[in-house]
Amino acid sequence: MKPTIAPYPNARFRRARQSESIRGLVRENTLTVNDLIWPVFVRDGEGIEEPVPSMPGVVRRSVDLIAAAAVEAQALGIPAICLFPYTDPSLKTEDCAEAWSPDNLSNRAIRAIKAAAPDIAVMTDVALDPYNIDGHDGYVVDGEIVNDATVEALVKMTLAQADAGADIIGPSDMMDGRIGAMRRALENAGHHNVMILSYAAKYASAFYGPFRDAVGASGALKGDKKTYQMDPANSNEALRLIERDLTEGADMVMIKPGMPYLDICRRVKDTFGAPTYAYQVSGEYAMIQAAAQNGWIDGEKVMLESLLAFKRAGCDGVLTYFAPAAARILNG
Ligand code: PBG
Repeated sequence: MKPTIAPYPNARFRRARQSESIRGLVRENTLTVNDLIWPVFVRDGEGIEEPVPSMPGVVRRSVDLIAAAAVEAQALGIPAICLFPYTDPSLKTEDCAEAWSPDNLSNRAIRAIKAAAPDIAVMTDVALDPYNIDGHDGYVVDGEIVNDATVEALVKMTLAQADAGADIIGPSDMMDGRIGAMRRALENAGHHNVMILSYAAKYASAFYGPFRDAVGASGALKGDKKTYQMDPANSNEALRLIERDLTEGADMVMIKPGMPYLDICRRVKDTFGAPTYAYQVSGEYAMIQAAAQNGWIDGEKVMLESLLAFKRAGCDGVLTYFAPAAARILNG
């Protein structure tokens, strides 16, 4: 059709969207396999792979199959794997001693991965909840989650993980002062190269529900975690926590959950420029999988779009249960 009304715009943004090659040329952010950290669940036994009902596509693996999964992840180019233990209820106690047992599930899995897939970085979780009879991340004394005694236990847990060969320690407990205490203990023990990725801004979120099923903590948890995890209403507090943890010796910081907290990711990256990660948590994963299974969304496209969004928000990487599926697509 011949244009009849002038003038038409000189600034046509659609020019830059006209073809895949031009879109590629102007693209500001990209998702690569290097951006992925894969959280996995480990359980006891041998040759066992058991589905987690609330997280379709996610399984709990025995240590031998965790090692096999790490070999596969390494071959896909995934840089890091993060371990979460499904601890037998009989091992949950008031003193949480299983947390720093050199032979607990998580430490056995670290050694098995290091032997089978030495090039993938192993990240751990530091918190007492898998081992605590109360299901809390810290010791409970007279109904209160006590800080300093918990930090002492977390330090023991950290050292056992480092001794087992962990590369990145991931404190997710939200106690005050734990990063400094853990860093000092690691230095004193000669673990100078063991890194700390602090779950510095971890919110008291309802998006963790499926994870608590996956690690068997749902039944055990008494009350909620609001006296140590952050209020979802707060943003400035996240920046203060990140600053504190970086000062205490954190090498990298995490925001958790992910998608509902992209504003925090952006503020953190802009303010500190530190290596910044987000955790696309179990509830986020479950929502995407449930909608995809119902045919309401294209699961693959939503997965990739959600992961790219973390990069756009300033993150250097994402902990995501989608890691192997995303890696397969990104590798072409
Ligand atoms: C506990 C921990 C939680 C997650 C990771 N570590 C749950 C919680 O704080 O209750 C949640 C991860 C997810 O939902 O995928 N230390």
